[in-house]
Amino acid sequence: MAAPTGNVMDRIVALCKRRGFIFQSSEIYGGINGFWDYGPLGVELKRNIKDAWWHDMVHSRDDMVGLDCAIIMHPQVWKVSGHHDLFSDMMVDCTDCKRRFRADKVFIATLAGGTGPGAVLGVEADGVAGAAEALPQSIAAWAKQTNTAEFKKAEVVVTGCAARVKTARGEYTATIQPLSQISPDIPRRCPECAQTLTEAREFNLMFMTYVGALINDDSKAFLRPETAQGIFANFKNVCDTTRIKVPFGIAQIGKSFRNEITPRNFTFRSREFEQMEIEFFCHPSESGKWYEYWRDTRFNWYTSLGLASSKLRLREHDKDELSHYSCGTSDIEYAFPFLAAGDFGELEGVAHRGDFDLRSHMEGKLVNQDGKLVVDTGPDGKPKWKGSGKDLSYFDDERKERFIPHVIEPSAGADRGMLAFICEAYTVDESRPSPELMKFHPRLAPIKAAVFPLVAKDGLPEIAEPVYREVRKRWPAQYDAKQSIGKRYARMDEAGTPYCFTIDGQTKEDGTVTVRDRDTGNQNRIDKSRVVDFLTEKLEGHTR
Ligand code: GAP
Repeated sequence: MAAPTGNVMDRIVALCKRRGFIFQSSEIYGGINGFWDYGPLGVELKRNIKDAWWHDMVHSRDDMVGLDCAIIMHPQVWKVSGHHDLFSDMMVDCTDCKRRFRADKVFIATLAGGTGPGAVLGVEADGVAGAAEALPQSIAAWAKQTNTAEFKKAEVVVTGCAARVKTARGEYTATIQPLSQISPDIPRRCPECAQTLTEAREFNLMFMTYVGALINDDSKAFLRPETAQGIFANFKNVCDTTRIKVPFGIAQIGKSFRNEITPRNFTFRSREFEQMEIEFFCHPSESGKWYEYWRDTRFNWYTSLGLASSKLRLREHDKDELSHYSCGTSDIEYAFPFLAAGDFGELEGVAHRGDFDLRSHMEGKLVNQDGKLVVDTGPDGKPKWKGSGKDLSYFDDERKERFIPHVIEPSAGADRGMLAFICEAYTVDESRPSPELMKFHPRLAPIKAAVFPLVAKDGLPEIAEPVYREVRKRWPAQYDAKQSIGKRYARMDEAGTPYCFTIDGQTKEDGTVTVRDRDTGNQNRIDKSRVVDFLTEKLEGHTR
């Protein structure tokens, strides 16, 4: 087979579809933007990620309990949490083609300095570096759309965040600026059709629905945009029904929904996705220590499952970037291959939420501004939203003190994590007949082992099947007797299966089978009675 060609991300997306990791939702009807389905291999991989998280964050600790809350909650929850008023993105619309863009994803490129009038065009990208990288295609599309002959065959040389553009008439310097920073005399061009964009407006990201038979304001409800609020609303229930004591955490894995303006980059920004969230409750005086602890613990979790630390970084939010609830947040970011060189995308946020949530659910909406809690009041001077009125404070027996716990929140996306593990695992080894393979960490691999009779005759299936049945008792495994052995290995390499066992003529003579290692392609022989022991050691790191 020839070496794969084309952009790495396109090849990863193609492999995910070809091998049944991820499908576009409703594909037979042309798809629906921002929604994805997980195929037979994808569902196993995602389940393994969630199981690893639950095992490492809940089962292997004494200070964590789990929860599984409803997706639709009382609408007051979202008013008090701030999502009703503050959970929005700034968006701009094109006055002509009506396309809608996130304002922070639109950049304006001004081409000036040549002998002609130059050009101003819009580019949709994830950052200035991404906009520079996309500039050659954007210029070509814009020149075609606006029939600007001079730029149709322009040569673009991109260096970092800047570019020089050569045409038959002269050489221009391209200045790329975020839409929010351009001066009023520069046209705000649509990246799609080059017409004019509107001013930026707020767009709430919550999906709305109606509960019950009547459709009116009183029956309005929202699909949860985060799993966190179910945890805060149940804080007292958990304290009252368990013996757990502060400091402790409540963990939850579940679906969240956001009506993202521009879902993009495969599953990275979806409209329906799964979160793995912890709300860790502690005494206010210890919150700084726990914030650092969770930031480091969560970073190390990703490297323990195979993400290269060189492609991961911890980034502390600037003050003006903080969410309304947070007094400190660090993002764990990964260098996804769809981003421009040097750019990183958020995998998980670790936020210091102070006592914002518990206090808000007690007293009504409070907004954390510059470290101060400010009651958000209506025109009558009274708090705009009423809290539950329930006492969500905590009495610490040892300290003999009542306080509202502070919260540290490590909030991870299961789908984003899965995308990072897929991107990291994707490997091309051109020395192999079938060069693409997925080097998943053994804990995450959807299939742990495969068993093959070399040929489907000569008594080999009769030896192979019992070996397979023993393996399948312990791990997800596959049995395959069709096609050449090379093709069977290649299929397992693409699925990311760490070990394949082949039963051949020699097995009949001395009882040994071949073990093939996915990552090296090396083959050794072991006795067939040792297959389960071998896998126990390799997959679980211990002997039976
Ligand atoms: N409770 C806090 C919270 O929800 P967030 O930073 O908005 O914080 C946490 O989301 C994580 O959820 C992100 O780091 C990301 O992994 C995941 N996430 C958020 N929006 C997403 C989307 N549209 N598609 C996929 N994953 C998303």
